[in-house]
Amino acid sequence: MEKYKHVLPGQHVYKGRLFFGFSPPDVLDAVKDFDVREDDVFIVTYPKAGTTWLQEIVWLIVNDGNIQKAKVEQVYFRSPFLEFKDLVLNEVGLELAKPMPSPRVIKTHLPVDLAPTGIFKTKCKKLVLFRNPKDLCVSYFHFYRSSSSFGNFQGSWPEFLEMFLDGHVDHGSWFDFTKGWWDKRDNSDVYILYYEDMKKDLKNEIKKMSCFLDKSDISEDTVDKIANHCCFESMRTNPMTNHHDVYSINKEISPLLRKGMVGDWKSHFTVEQSGYFDLLYAEKMKGIDIPFQYQL
Ligand code: A3P
Repeated sequence: MEKYKHVLPGQHVYKGRLFFGFSPPDVLDAVKDFDVREDDVFIVTYPKAGTTWLQEIVWLIVNDGNIQKAKVEQVYFRSPFLEFKDLVLNEVGLELAKPMPSPRVIKTHLPVDLAPTGIFKTKCKKLVLFRNPKDLCVSYFHFYRSSSSFGNFQGSWPEFLEMFLDGHVDHGSWFDFTKGWWDKRDNSDVYILYYEDMKKDLKNEIKKMSCFLDKSDISEDTVDKIANHCCFESMRTNPMTNHHDVYSINKEISPLLRKGMVGDWKSHFTVEQSGYFDLLYAEKMKGIDIPFQYQL
């Protein structure tokens, strides 16, 4: 008997990682050979780390704060999801990305070894966003429930937690993803940032990202505009960022922009679950000291 009841639509294992059918093997193969440009900007995250938030911010920095354009085109078209193939709409992220003018802002959730070969053969910039894994896991649980792409998970929170810790979720193990990208932190084209720091001082993070993106001349006014446009409330109500039109997400169950806070894990984890999580974390991340913040 299968260990887990829940089966993702089109579920498959690719090079040791579990994937949903929206990242099919042929697309994952094609991603490896994706033609990366020197001036591409990659948004690298494990699901639910705050990907959409970073996509919107980075797209605006790269496009000199062009809020007018951001208000008329969906974030997922301005910044395609590389390894995603929408089986219903027949849209493939890497096909959307191919004809896009430079500089492209491309989203991926892939672990290092599955990312395009060109990602480290060029000087393309890679922004890697981390979020404390307890909040991330809670966010993933709710997304699994609300999204038909994940099969509208009907199981319980403890069941999901077990699946997450086991790496039995779409895109595979969080530990695997995190260790792989953390190992690349000394690469001058890799910039690691934290969801919690963005919550603490968004303007400061926008300035630091701008420097990394060779846009250190960004004006205070543009930083202000981007920060206002990208605050939780603004993105939650903005039809270009809140994914309300995405057929697979049932926002009545849980919207993409759900709570947007640090520490929501405390309303889901029991003391025992949190202790168990810490224990497993210590075991799997031995010798790796990533400064995650579990509360502000
Ligand atoms: P919660 O479910 O905890 O609310 P992703 O884009 O990687 O799928 O991540 C989604 C998570 O990022 C959700 O977390 C969502 O609320 C949060 N998020 C998105 N935009 C945000 C913003 N502007 N400020 C804070 N959190 C944001």
